[in-house]
Amino acid sequence: MAHRTLLRGGDAVVPDGSGFAVRRVDVLLDGGTLRIDPPATVQADEIVDCSGKLIFPGVIDDQVHLRDPGLTHKEDLRTGTAAAAAGGVTTVLEMPNTKPATTTRALWEAKNKIAEEKALVNWGFYMGATPDNLEELQAANPDVTCGIKIFIGSSTGNLLVDAQEALERIFAETTLPLCAHCEDETTVRRNTEAVRQRLGEPPWPIRVHSDIRNEEAAVVSVRRAIDLATRHDHRFHVLHVSTAGELREIAQAGPQITAEVCPHHLLFDTGDYERLGSWVQMNPAIKSVTDRAAMWQALADGETIQVVATDHAPHTREEKEADYPASPSGLPALENSLSLLLTHGPAHGVTVERLAAAMCDAPARVWGLIGKGRLADGYDADVCVVDPHATFTVRHEDQLTKSHWSPWHGEELTGRVLRTFVAGQTVYEDGAVRRKVAGHATAVRCDHARGGYHATPDGIGLA
Ligand code: DOR
Repeated sequence: MAHRTLLRGGDAVVPDGSGFAVRRVDVLLDGGTLRIDPPATVQADEIVDCSGKLIFPGVIDDQVHLRDPGLTHKEDLRTGTAAAAAGGVTTVLEMPNTKPATTTRALWEAKNKIAEEKALVNWGFYMGATPDNLEELQAANPDVTCGIKIFIGSSTGNLLVDAQEALERIFAETTLPLCAHCEDETTVRRNTEAVRQRLGEPPWPIRVHSDIRNEEAAVVSVRRAIDLATRHDHRFHVLHVSTAGELREIAQAGPQITAEVCPHHLLFDTGDYERLGSWVQMNPAIKSVTDRAAMWQALADGETIQVVATDHAPHTREEKEADYPASPSGLPALENSLSLLLTHGPAHGVTVERLAAAMCDAPARVWGLIGKGRLADGYDADVCVVDPHATFTVRHEDQLTKSHWSPWHGEELTGRVLRTFVAGQTVYEDGAVRRKVAGHATAVRCDHARGGYHATPDGIGLA
């Protein structure tokens, strides 16, 4: 018989109507499948006393960069998924700007093989769009490919699709859900030139990063992407929204548009460059205090922002210490995102119930992930147990990401992940990651026909 773990007496964050509610119910991990509120007589191999603890659906992070293959001095699929497990993240959807970039079905399959060997949590890989790989995007297997990523503005790596014709073809002639990095290339180049005129040749002070990748760059690009998605009636997800201006564009768009925010755009603003330097250099760049407030509001009300994702983008400390603009953009966040949001959310009206929606359920729906994102009968036994009152201090040296640093170093957080289960198996407990167990972490399966944020509120692809 399959291994059974009973989580007894905890406060589980479970579906309730169109949202979530916290309920005192037992949760049975019956092999790889969940059973909520099983009969009192149920037999289990292990009974875990969860009184005073939150039982959360495993977090699904739909935007991570795990650098494998090719950039494994920064991160790899083992260290990145170890960091995920420590943060209560049970599924990662990984971006294509590895080396080589994931732009063909063969390269996608090769990456999948690496994950089969190394990944400690479930994974899905995006296909990366280029100006001329339409056939490859069309050849992707829709049952296991979460979606297609387009860099409509360039960032780390050399993926970029800026030509209108190429974008029109991608939106018109592919069927997988699309997402994009939206920062307008023309605006970014013009802003860079303006900085050069003002300050001469680099190096430049780090704060000009937010002048170069400013609100206009984001808004122009998001407007363009929404126009494409609307005309071609294509599902489209706006990655890492950072400005109030983008929120206004998204608010006017149709239901095929979804959007996400990252912890760093909620928690940092341009005032933080002085204290944190290139630790907080990322693309899109951090913005103003007003933008931050607008992002919190949008996350709290759930109208324009459905998803929280980290854009976990590790670089080594040495790389980050280079003078701007030689310093690379991106920061690691996978292992702290849930605790960061549990700590800071309440002051902004973002409840535990909203977090379950934004960090677990919504990404499963946007990307059509079968059996994921909810604590409900028949769903996958991907779960994390959190002590909502435990405090801890983030320290560079404790980070499991290979980059071993965090922009939140020294910050005390409240709400600690105690244990993470993937397919009913413990992958993280009391500060330690367990060895890989064959078969427990698997590639996601997708049902894009029934997926889509507004399409099927529950039971995507469940038998
Ligand atoms: O800051 C960022 N870093 N933004 C991105 O879009 C890419 C990422 C990376 O891969 O380093």
